[in-house]
Amino acid sequence: MRYSATVEIMEEKSVRVGLLGCGNVGKALVGLITSQREAILSRTGLNLTIQAIAVQNPEKHQDLGALAERITTRAHDVVVSDDVDLVVEVIGGVEPSKELIEAALRSGKPVITANKELLAKHGPELFEQADQGNLDLLFEAAVAGGIPLMRALRESLKGEPIRRVMGIVNGTTNYVLSQMTETGMSYGDALAEAQSAGFAESDPSADVEGQDAASKAAIIAMVAFGARLGLSDVTYEGITQVSAEDIDFAKRFGHTIKLLAIAEHDNGEVAVRVHPAMVPDHHPLASVRDSFNAVFVEGEAVGDLMLYGRGAGGSPTASAVLGDIIAAANNLTQSTNNGLGNLRQASIQSTEGLENAFYINLEVTDEPGVLAAVASVFGNHGVSIRSMEQEGLGGEARIVFITHASKERNVHSTLDELSELDCVIQIGTKIRVVGA
Ligand code: HSE
Repeated sequence: MRYSATVEIMEEKSVRVGLLGCGNVGKALVGLITSQREAILSRTGLNLTIQAIAVQNPEKHQDLGALAERITTRAHDVVVSDDVDLVVEVIGGVEPSKELIEAALRSGKPVITANKELLAKHGPELFEQADQGNLDLLFEAAVAGGIPLMRALRESLKGEPIRRVMGIVNGTTNYVLSQMTETGMSYGDALAEAQSAGFAESDPSADVEGQDAASKAAIIAMVAFGARLGLSDVTYEGITQVSAEDIDFAKRFGHTIKLLAIAEHDNGEVAVRVHPAMVPDHHPLASVRDSFNAVFVEGEAVGDLMLYGRGAGGSPTASAVLGDIIAAANNLTQSTNNGLGNLRQASIQSTEGLENAFYINLEVTDEPGVLAAVASVFGNHGVSIRSMEQEGLGGEARIVFITHASKERNVHSTLDELSELDCVIQIGTKIRVVGA
């Protein structure tokens, strides 16, 4: 038998990119498009070129070689230009990004954005605008940087009944907590170390207070559950109250403290939150160290999955943006798009109704009857104690409790009543125990 091979010549399709912003991510993207151009052309038939780069200060970007002549300060001209087919927004922040993305969509251009804050606050309206124009609005880089989480949720797991997505989605706080865990450093020293090593911003508040992770959690919930919600529906707290002592107690209980973003879906209700959590050492998230991110997905059919990688940094984020550019460029050449569909108005479950086990750290007077008095307050509010440790502090004592899963409102009322007791000197950190 004789075989004959047919070589199909792919038709070359030119797609011209308008880039808004050229910081770390933008620069890495320009480098990646330039170095991968031939490979992308031979694999996809797409000839990607950078048509224009909008920046605020052109003098800072003269290192772009031949592309320096594509630099402009007129971002609005880029998004409406007939010479631009697809817009990439890596400016960050709500404005002017929102106005520029809306203008790009109005002028019929698909948009790729890495902007978590914008999508967490205005995602549903922007997705609707994109869908109405049959245009892509893709955002892989907005959550967990280089990890292809959005595509996994939007495509591979589209039909999966997802119960919970739980992740370490902020590299700065994971680095700080890893340093505290591995060296015994205080929170302040670990943060200072992270800043000098370039892992934390000089103003780290959005990271350490949990807002960055909360924005990502809101986007995860939109995509995983098809839910219409926003940042204001996310309850969040950061890591600023976590002490070296909490980390040490967690270790003794066989746990590691992580800042978790958790999006859950139960009985038509959605709960989205970010908080420090004690994770048992055997849970895969416990071993995610340094500035790495990881996201654990619990599905009814698929079971448990985990995606792991770099959640920040120019190159990993640019890699995610480039994947989106190729997907959107392909769709554009086929006059199609890949939207999120109709997002249903989410019924948001109050965190007070959620059940969690808690770690609670109390400083008390060291006298007869104190333990019994404290324990009875837990009992009064229906909070059952799973384990307890006490250590003397010289006239005072520290008692650390781990509770069984209890409604948050019951734990809060327990703490309120404990704060009234004369024998309670101080109520320290309370940290949820998750993933047992
Ligand atoms: N500042 C974030 C982090 C990266 O530390 O993970 C951007 O969202």
